[in-house]
This record gives sequence, C-alpha cells and structure tokens, in this order.
Amino acid sequence: MRFSDEFIEEVKARNDILDVVGSYVPLKKKGNNYWGLCPFHNEKTPSFSVYPPKQMYHCFGCGESGNSISFVMKYENVTFPEAVKILAERAGMEVVETEETGAEKAKRARSEILRQINSDAALFFMNNLYTPHGERGLKYLKDRGLTDETIRHFGLGFAGNNGREVIDALRKKGYSDEMIIASGIASNSESRGMSCTFFGRVMFPIINTDKKVIGFGGRVLGSGEPKYLNTSETVIFDKRRNLYGYNFAKRARKKYYILCEGYMDVISMHQAGFDSAIASLGTAFTDEQAAMIKRDRCEVYLAYDMDEAGEKAALKAVRMLTAVGITPRRINLRPCKDPDEFISKNGREEFEKRLENAENGFIYIEDRVRDRYDLDDPEERYKCEKEIVENLWMFAGDEVRMNSYIGEIVKRFGYTFSEVSKLLDETRPREYPKVSAESTKGAYSPPKKAAGRKKENEWIPAESSLLTWITDEPEVYRVVKKYIKAEDFSPGPCRIIAEKAFEMIENGTYSNTGLFESFDDEELTNTAMGILQNSAPDIDTAEKRLAMLKDLIIKVMERKCEIIGSSDDPEKDMKIYMTRLEIDRLKSGKLRLNDEEDT
Ligand code: UTP
Ligand code: MN
Repeated sequence: MRFSDEFIEEVKARNDILDVVGSYVPLKKKGNNYWGLCPFHNEKTPSFSVYPPKQMYHCFGCGESGNSISFVMKYENVTFPEAVKILAERAGMEVVETEETGAEKAKRARSEILRQINSDAALFFMNNLYTPHGERGLKYLKDRGLTDETIRHFGLGFAGNNGREVIDALRKKGYSDEMIIASGIASNSESRGMSCTFFGRVMFPIINTDKKVIGFGGRVLGSGEPKYLNTSETVIFDKRRNLYGYNFAKRARKKYYILCEGYMDVISMHQAGFDSAIASLGTAFTDEQAAMIKRDRCEVYLAYDMDEAGEKAALKAVRMLTAVGITPRRINLRPCKDPDEFISKNGREEFEKRLENAENGFIYIEDRVRDRYDLDDPEERYKCEKEIVENLWMFAGDEVRMNSYIGEIVKRFGYTFSEVSKLLDETRPREYPKVSAESTKGAYSPPKKAAGRKKENEWIPAESSLLTWITDEPEVYRVVKKYIKAEDFSPGPCRIIAEKAFEMIENGTYSNTGLFESFDDEELTNTAMGILQNSAPDIDTAEKRLAMLKDLIIKVMERKCEIIGSSDDPEKDMKIYMTRLEIDRLKSGKLRLNDEEDT
C-alpha cells in the first residue's frame, strides 16, 4: 500500500482526533482538553488528554503522544499504511493507492514467487522428515526432546542427503532455476551445476507474521561446521526486520517477549508453554527488532546464553532496548548454559521462578562487570568503576533516567556522586552517543542537533531536567527560586516554560495540564510535553536527592554565566561575578532549604 501525501492529509482532515480517540476511549471535557484513561498504560485516574485544536493526544502518565494516525497505529498495533486505510474507510473515503509502476508490479510478483518457492521447499523438507530419507533428522530432533507436535508446529524438516531432491521437486512445480537460486535454496556452479544450499541438515523454516516462509536455518546433525547455515538475505528475507518465533509470539499477545539467542532455545521455550519466546536470525539483535518490540508495547526478558558471548550480546541488546525506552530484564539461567538446557533439566516451573526473579538488565550487567575485576586491587577497582560508569551513557538523552541510575550506582556500590560524575566526563563518548531505533547501522550515532542554531539557544539537558523536577514536585521550587529565576534559563522554549511555570506556582494555580494548555506554539508544546512526561528522580534518601538537586542548580547557574558571556560591560561582569560566587558557595556547602538560613 502506498498513499500520496495529499491523500494522507485528506484522511487526517476528515478524521477529527476527538472522534477517532473517542470511539476507543471514553472522554470527558475539562478546560480546553478532553480527558480519559490512557489506553497505553494502566491507570486509575485519567492522565490521557486530547487537544482538538492541535489534533493531538498526550498522556501525562506514560508520555505517549501523537495524532489520529499514530493513535490507530498504536491502539490497533498496525503499520502506518494500514492505519491510514482504517481511517480512510472510517471516514467513508475511497481508498486510493498510488498507482504501482511497472517495475514495482514486477518486483511484487517476483517476491510472491520467492515466497511460494520457500513454502514449497519447507513442505518438502517437512515431509522428508517422516520418510526413510529423513530418519536421521527425526531421530536428532527427538533426541533433543522435541515432540511430534512441536516439530509440526514449527514446520521443522530435513534436507536430504545430497540436496538434489528438493531442486527436482521445485523444478517439477514449474519454478525456473533462476528463481530457485534467487530464493537462496540453491546455487549454481560450473563444476557441480545446481546444488542445494542445505543437505544433511535439520531445517528450521523462518516464518513471518503473515505466516509465510521467508528463509531457513539448517543445523548439522551433531557436530560439524558451520553449526547453523542460514539463507542469505533475499528480497523477501530481511534478517534485521524479522525474528524467529515472532509469528507465534506476536499472536500470543503477552505483556513481554523472552528474547533468546538460538532457534532451539525458542522451540524449547514454546514447547514448555512460554509462547512469547523469540530470537534474532543468526545475527546480532538489531535496532529494527528493538523498534518492533517497542511498537508491540512489550517488555523484554533476556534469556541469552550464560557464556561470555551471551553476556556481550546481552549488553548490546540492553543498550538497544534502553534506547527505545524499554527496560529489559535479564534471566539468570545458571548453572545452565541456555534456556534449552535449562528447560530440559529443570522444567517449566523452575523457569517460571527465574522469570519472576529476573533482574533489571542494567544492574545485572553491572554485577557481571564487577565479577570480572579483583576489587581488592586499587587499579582494578578503578577500571571496574570506570567501565560501569561508561555503561551509564546508554541513558544519554534521558537525563532524568540517567540520574536515577546514577543514584542506584551510588547506593549499591558506595560511590560518591562526584566520583561518578568525574568518571562520566572521563568516559564521555566523542559524540554524545545515542542509539537510534531508525539507524540502519545499529551503531552509535550522534545526537540530533538543531542545525544552524546559535549557541545560546542550545538545548541544555540540566535545564529541562530541573524543569521536569519542578513540574513534577512544585514544592522544590521553593528551594530552586533562591538560586535561579526564569530569566536565567537559556532563551527559547525552556525560558518561556520556566516563566509560565514559575508564575503559576507563585500564584498557587499550577497544574501540569494548565501549563501544557497555555502554549499554542508547536515547538513549545513539544518541549513542554518532553518536560512533563518525565518524572522527578526516584532516589530514596533525602540527602542524595538534595545532592542531585544541587548539582542541577549549579549546572543551570554555570550555563547562566555562559549566556551572559564575557564582555567589557561592567554590569554583566558583576552579574557573572555574583553568580560564580554563589556557585562556589554552593559547591562547598549545602542547599539553603529554609528562609531562616538566608540571613
Ligand atoms: P548457538 O550455538 O547458541 O545455537 O547459536 P543453539 O540454538 O543454542 O544451538 P544448539 O542448541 O546447539 O542447536 C545461537 C544462534 O546463532 C546462530 C543461530 O541462529 C543460532 O540459533 N548461529 C550459530 C548461526 O547462525 N551459525 C552458527 O554456526 C552458529
Ligand atoms: Mn544453545
């Protein structure tokens, strides 16, 4: 499906956000907004609001926001074109897709043939398993504990001993050699002619969510190299955007996925009843896969192997999932190596317990780092701390969340805030790193910076964090105002939001929605959303909270000096001098909490 921009605009225009959302969620009018219980997270009091003038919705609880199309995408769990189609039909519009060009048509026809070849081959391999040709394969799978039911469920099969049979069968069905080669099932060489990629292997068909076979993994019986052979990428087999077991797991509609490393792990898990197990396809976990999981609004339990490679892969997966806003948990399978072994040795109930006890992925990784060092040796201890702090950078771009983890490290490992913040500076990646879900390389990519903006309009995380804190807990404003005024914020959205928020707090009229509703400029609304959707750091002791608040205040004051800038203007110099004096006093002392202390 492809739609023109005009068509999409027309669809938006004819589907008022209030009607669309209202047909899913009961809404009540209050002020300029309409309120209801958020469909995207569990809540008892409504924090989900629809704002018709902007044709937008926003949840102050979970931070979801968007327009009518993104609402349908999220609610119905469909793709963009599917959502457009649903809305077009809803508005009684004729669904007009952009004409396919000849080339597009040909490409689609070719893909369809490739899917047929793959599914015919899968059938062939499957049938093989229950003939004398496939006896060895069947025995292998049975020896690994799989039942006939599981074998059929996953469509497992056996590629014959020389691999010619499947080619003959496909030719008989009328497929050309060229297409058989394009499907990845066979290759052609001058010396041997057409030969099957897989032979003497048990076959794992990879099935997409449309229940179509798009490729295979083939495992040697017993030992041999390579252990698994996978179909190489074809036009229908995109390893970055599919997952093994996803066809079942997605339909299971659990709140979480269990992310495994291997095909056999997924199969054992499903056989034991854990039908939301998935694995990447013979490659490392990708950004695209993280984005798919995020779209399904699922949590993730990592059930990677307990060896060094598994821990490394887990760290990468935690980074990628963190970047899309998921907080993965790590399942401890020790003393077993992987979920397959765990299930066959300990069974379903024991796994259930491990699932319940799964630990926050970041904390788990920190513990593994500590295991690797001899903490009695000062040099090793230093390296260990540094490595742990370096990992904190995965939260870059979400300073409030980062602060929360800093607090956790301080608490768990007995570090001090200044130690952590020094190490953070030491380990700062060259480009403030951020893993982007859209990036195709899966590597760190630099943060988005608004191009061509002057430095004074630069986005300052400390400012927005401080505003988040104040808007979440307006009582801290009493402390903050002793040091910072609204005009001290960088010019732009933060300063405007600070002015409005502080004014409302002073007047005793502050509310998140009131603040949000007072803006009608898009950039401002978006910034306000960003600020309001986060919450104050979740740190238990008052002392640590104050230390963090102090840090933020100092950062904003330092920024203030930067904005004033150096000049010959004695008045400016005086301002900077006074601010610096205050910063120094703060650095060596505590925040003033009570008015009495002012004197
Ligand atoms: P494992 O070696 O952990 O696979 O590799 P496994 O599923 O536990 O294998 P069994 O239990 O010995 O049968 C994990 C995944 O890495 C990919 C496969 O996707 C495999 O499932 N892999 C591994 C390959 O693509 N090629 C290989 O040679 C090995
Ligand atoms: Mn394994």
